[in-house]
Amino acid sequence: MKSAGCVFADDEARVLRRWVRDDGQLDAWVRRRAAGEPLEHIVGRVEFGGLDLHVGTGVFVPRQRSLLLAAVAAKLVSTELLGTELIRGIDGIFVEACCGVAPIGAWVARSSPGTPVILTDTDERALHFARRNVPTADAHRGDLLAALPEPTLGRVAVVAAVTPYVPDSYAGLLPAEAVDHEPPAALFGGSDGLDAVRRLIGASREVLVPGGAVALEMHRGQVTAAAALADEIGYRTRIVDGDDGQTVVLVARDSRGMPWR
Ligand SMILES: C[S@@+](CC[C@H](N)C(=O)[O-])C[C@H]1O[C@@H](n2cnc3c(N)ncnc32)[C@H](O)[C@@H]1O
Repeated sequence: MKSAGCVFADDEARVLRRWVRDDGQLDAWVRRRAAGEPLEHIVGRVEFGGLDLHVGTGVFVPRQRSLLLAAVAAKLVSTELLGTELIRGIDGIFVEACCGVAPIGAWVARSSPGTPVILTDTDERALHFARRNVPTADAHRGDLLAALPEPTLGRVAVVAAVTPYVPDSYAGLLPAEAVDHEPPAALFGGSDGLDAVRRLIGASREVLVPGGAVALEMHRGQVTAAAALADEIGYRTRIVDGDDGQTVVLVARDSRGMPWR
């Protein structure tokens, strides 16, 4: 694989050996990897903060940068929201919208067992893996929050999402592994990358319990515009910076009726 240009060939070889059945399969896997297929699609697994998640051909592979959103979402669920008197007693549903294979949902299910988790995505292939990764969750196919069942409206404590947020014109800057092997609908978010962010923030008011929050991963360069949008509809916003200098999480809280509004 080194000769095929894999930068982390030794690490990747270790991952292949961990999951491979026999030498025949190893040969086939090395050929696929050398041809540019993502390692995670080949072995059907991705490690995410100690979780061993199922993935497969044709779906978005969770990125390590999304551990930031996972940590923010888990904290919102466990302490900042469900732990407060303000919304204690309400079911406190957690939603991962645009869930893909559901790394954030899996993280919350592990860190706050018993929290009701709902997953939504438009892609049935992604939902197939999401259901395997979070067997206790309800998974629904459909557009953003419109996929949620009616009885959940007004009862959601936290919505977290890694929407597709790459600006359409940045396609040429993405690695071939992403462009050639992940669905465009999982990557691109319109001219400024914020199409789904805008719609999700707009739709969140109907599903959130008063005091509930939306947490969204995006690029640092997009967060001022996204925060302005949330401010406009009366949410209180804060920004959590990642260590990579690029990834941020926008937390927007619906402060209707809250004493600290
Ligand atoms: C960037 S991927 C993130 C997946 C997952 N959250 C993760 O971090 O691995 C975006 C996901 O959003 C889904 N998606 C795109 N447009 C959507 C929409 N309008 N409604 C629901 N899901 C959508 C895609 O199918 C894809 O699985």
